[in-house]
Amino acid sequence: MKPAPKTFHVKSFGCQMNVYDGERMAELMGAQGMVAADADSSDLVVLNTCHIREKATEKVYSDIGRLRKDQGKLGRTPMIAVAGCVAQAEGEEIVRRAKVDVVVGPQAYHNLPALVAKAAAGTSALDTDLPALTKFGHLPARRRVGPSAFLTVQEGCDKFCTYCVVPYTRGAEVSRPFAAIVDEAKALVDAGAREITLLGQNVNAWDHDEKGLHDLIRALDRIPGLARIRYTTSHPNDMTQGLIDAHAQVESLMPFLHLPVQAGSDRVLKAMNRAHTRDSYLRLIDRIRAARPDIALSGDFIVGFPGETDAQFAETLSLVDAVGYAQAFSFKYSPRPGTPAATLPGQIPAEVMDDRLQRLQAALNRDQHAFNRASVGRTCPVLIERSGKLPGQMLGKSPWLQSVHLVTGGQIGDLVDITLATAGPKSLSGVPTTVAALQRTVA
Ligand code: 5AD
Ligand code: SF4
Repeated sequence: MKPAPKTFHVKSFGCQMNVYDGERMAELMGAQGMVAADADSSDLVVLNTCHIREKATEKVYSDIGRLRKDQGKLGRTPMIAVAGCVAQAEGEEIVRRAKVDVVVGPQAYHNLPALVAKAAAGTSALDTDLPALTKFGHLPARRRVGPSAFLTVQEGCDKFCTYCVVPYTRGAEVSRPFAAIVDEAKALVDAGAREITLLGQNVNAWDHDEKGLHDLIRALDRIPGLARIRYTTSHPNDMTQGLIDAHAQVESLMPFLHLPVQAGSDRVLKAMNRAHTRDSYLRLIDRIRAARPDIALSGDFIVGFPGETDAQFAETLSLVDAVGYAQAFSFKYSPRPGTPAATLPGQIPAEVMDDRLQRLQAALNRDQHAFNRASVGRTCPVLIERSGKLPGQMLGKSPWLQSVHLVTGGQIGDLVDITLATAGPKSLSGVPTTVAALQRTVA
């Protein structure tokens, strides 16, 4: 028997959907009367895990060890719950290997209070069922959020890229109903959000009652007080004309698109089962840019997919040159148990992967810096999200999702008109437009 926990801490790894799930778990525990605290002093620690690459999984086990050690020094034994995609993929194995109290999958975390109660009664508790969408009906209402909030609209994936665990850990593609999403968006705005990022593993595959993501975006655009809409992550093959048109016509839809391509060689794309080609991706980008010329593009890349030759990797570099990304994520291929690519011949040696990743990241960083430099002089609204390290400094985001440092009288949650003044590799500084105009007059 362990005493029922009074304090809790949720630590989320991985993607933005895990951040969203972590917030909802915290709200759930808050509704049970539990109070949020530090990892070192909490009675219950929830590790909301990611299974996308191997390192992330190993990190969970080392985190459990460190947590026990740190709290042990203070004479405490925390209750540990493993949630998220590692919980889904490993299930019982985590209980066996790490003797944790609770294991709960990403579609079952509405049962967390019951599982915690069971663990407090002395039996380890596990729920890795995958009932689509059930959890949303069991979560408390949104009450307090920051200026930029996440909202999950779609989960799961039917694409089965050969390297990816998502179809196994998050299940098949399911879309939340239109009305439930609009209601949650309104609640988020009432709770303080000015920007909402719609989340889904395949967010642009969202559909409900013959409506597509563009219809949803147009409905959210009408919510008073909601200034900005974003969405992530999209698959190139689900980028409909309706969505492209929305980028041209809906003012609150920000000029930013995360559109993973993964690789630049058709042979590699085929082996990855991406179902698009280099050329179809580049033509799609042309159509999106025609609709919204200032759109900032982002992507995901994998280097060292089994069998990838130097020449094929060079095609990834040339695709990067052709697109000119404003930012991007890049990873070394990590074989995931149970995925088709894990057993393919031609696994790439670590030093080759390291070298390719370095070269790719150098190209992506170069382009990000260039994009930032090209933004200098632009005037745009910045949404202030938090205060910066220096006195009076605030941090916010431009419409193109660049981090902007500025000194302003504004508060967190304000949209301030600024002129982008200087550019670094990862962020920019901005000057309130009124001040910039004054500086120009004086000069
Ligand atoms: N190895 C490396 N990167 C992966 N991703 C997904 N699966 C793997 C894997 N097995 C990357 C893809 C995806 C992003 C979320 O993670 O680039 O778009
Ligand atoms: Fe994974 Fe591919 Fe689905 Fe993205 S589209 S979640 S990479 S299977």
